[in-house]
Amino acid sequence: MIRYINEIDIKKKRLLIRVDFNVSLDDYGNIRDDSRIRAILPTVEYALDEESKIILLSHVGRPGGKIKKELSMAPIARRLKRLLKKEVKTTKDCIGKETEEAINAMQPGDVLLLENVRFHKEEEENDDTFAKKLANLCDVFINDAFATAHRAHASTVAVTRFVKDCGAGFLMKNELDYFARAMGDPIRPLVAIIGGAKVSSKLGAIENLIDKVDKIIIGGAMANTFLAGVECNVGKSKIEPEYLGIAKQILRSIRKKKVKIYLPVDCVVADRFDPKAETMVVPIQEIPDSWMVLDIGPATVTLYGEAIQNAKTIIWNGPMGAFEMDQFSRGTYAMVNHVVNTYALTIVGGGDTDAAIHRTGESSKFSYISTGGGAFLDLMEGKKLPAIVALDL
Ligand code: 3PG
Repeated sequence: MIRYINEIDIKKKRLLIRVDFNVSLDDYGNIRDDSRIRAILPTVEYALDEESKIILLSHVGRPGGKIKKELSMAPIARRLKRLLKKEVKTTKDCIGKETEEAINAMQPGDVLLLENVRFHKEEEENDDTFAKKLANLCDVFINDAFATAHRAHASTVAVTRFVKDCGAGFLMKNELDYFARAMGDPIRPLVAIIGGAKVSSKLGAIENLIDKVDKIIIGGAMANTFLAGVECNVGKSKIEPEYLGIAKQILRSIRKKKVKIYLPVDCVVADRFDPKAETMVVPIQEIPDSWMVLDIGPATVTLYGEAIQNAKTIIWNGPMGAFEMDQFSRGTYAMVNHVVNTYALTIVGGGDTDAAIHRTGESSKFSYISTGGGAFLDLMEGKKLPAIVALDL
């Protein structure tokens, strides 16, 4: 069973919290979206109430075991300071003498953010010696980094072997609880909306969902592969030719299981992938040879809206089109509108879907927006997340 932070004595203790502050930064080091930082505030605030010495540890980006200045935690510490309205000290490294001295100097209620853990290659190697060094920094280890829970790294897995008191934070609890409500024992009808670019990356999720959901709605570029699989001419659209057979097979097995599947009936096509492209709406039977599908069309939006109308639980991963460009964003935005107007429990995961929803300003109308991308998808695939397994003693 996983123990949560409120079930462990953390009073005035050195508390190492693994968080996921892997936020997107622009060329000037500005944070584009701080939702992952805000998401761990309940855990940090609880630890502040318990007067713990709060040591936060995270990665940002993929520095590949090398120090990369542009991937320093410094801008994140500044934002955290503003959100907590409290001083947040930083270190130049996440282990070593200077870090240990900084921790020794901490008073109850202090917050320290360690430097990017992925500056050490041993992190991604799940190395025991490195994990021991991290473990020595604390009395209690809490993992609240749901978005990194699918990685078996030293700061998510190996570290738990060397700290006696380990547990999970409130963000982790929320993520797991909401997912269990949607997929464990859902109120039906349960509808999955799956979009995004590639069938290949969603195949595992679709195969796992077939046995659990009542309806599957497909959108995004991956719908093209399904359409091409049933002999529809998709012009110059992006497809994955090696997955045509599998797409066909999925459609067959879905029908056998009496799960209802919905594919686009019309689409927005463009003569090229460009903000200035010429566009038009056509039925899927009339996609011109030299054009490409970049969004679902209005008839599909209506169809999908009707299909989710009676849903009691909706789980959504992946946008309906290339929403980053205005002309191809309507399908995704219209689906946001449909989803928030149902009376369903609505759970969303995946960075792109999350970004699209943020742009509509409707985030607060969803029951839960996961902080996870890969981790959320792995759960949808029915996989066990290594960092959760490590805590589940
Ligand atoms: C994420 O953003 O999905 C997590 O922080 C994991 O990052 P990674 O894909 O670089 O391991």
